[in-house]
Amino acid sequence: KRLILVGPPGSGKGTQSPIIKDEYCLCHLATGDMLRAAVASKTPLGIKAKEAMEKGELVSDDLVVGIIDEALKKPSCQKGFILDGFPRTVVQAQKLDEMLEKRGVKVDKVLNFAIDDAILEERITGRWIHPSSGRSYHTKFAPPKVPGADDVTGEPLIQRKDDTAAVLKSRLEAFHKQTEPVIEYYSKKGIVANLPAEKPPQEVTSEDLTNQDIWF
Ligand code: AP5
Ligand code: ZN
Ligand code: ZN
Repeated sequence: KRLILVGPPGSGKGTQSPIIKDEYCLCHLATGDMLRAAVASKTPLGIKAKEAMEKGELVSDDLVVGIIDEALKKPSCQKGFILDGFPRTVVQAQKLDEMLEKRGVKVDKVLNFAIDDAILEERITGRWIHPSSGRSYHTKFAPPKVPGADDVTGEPLIQRKDDTAAVLKSRLEAFHKQTEPVIEYYSKKGIVANLPAEKPPQEVTSEDLTNQDIWF
């Protein structure tokens, strides 16, 4: 399966991805995680991406298309993949179509994490992440077993620099202006499935994994 997860900041893409991934053995490519890793290790890509990310704006299409093109070459991505946070503009969607066409494959489903903006601030400001794995927690909705530590490795959790109420405003603006047209783009192809992303995580998961419409 080749899946795209699309939804506003805090809608649960990163939370559901590992579950879908484990169930179907797909590779999980999250452009946000890859960009944060590049920023942390100060690579040329990270240096170019840092400012836009901190302001909650989108990084240029060329940069992210380049990362995805490279990542899709990995052997683990040949059977299927989950794209989390990409494509986020219509230009990125068109480039992805070109990349996949060259490989003779196409996108099977686009899971649209539908949720009201009003819920997102609490989700975003309470989030803690384990940077090296991308696992996310929430002080209220998904607390780690030991406060401040990752359940699997015990390593410290951190908060993302862009997870403030002020930066969230710009991220939401970018979502409505630049990313909603992407949902429209795939709707025309008839491959969008809407998920009730405001429900508790386990209920979103069961919709993901058992709703026949999504998989066939
Ligand atoms: P990115 O990392 O993709 O951030 P985002 O899209 O803003 O999404 P988030 O990671 O904030 O939300 P999520 O849906 O994964 O939520 P999560 O599951 O963690 O991008 C960051 C930046 O990188 C962008 O602003 C941009 O600058 C750049 N970038 C990335 N891709 C790009 C691209 N393609 N083009 C250009 N620029 C790009 O959940 C959030 C919290 O809620 C967690 O604490 C979680 O525990 C909790 N939670 C999850 N589900 C539930 C639930 N059902 N109920 C209650 N709580 C829940
Ligand atoms: Zn995420
Ligand atoms: Zn909108």
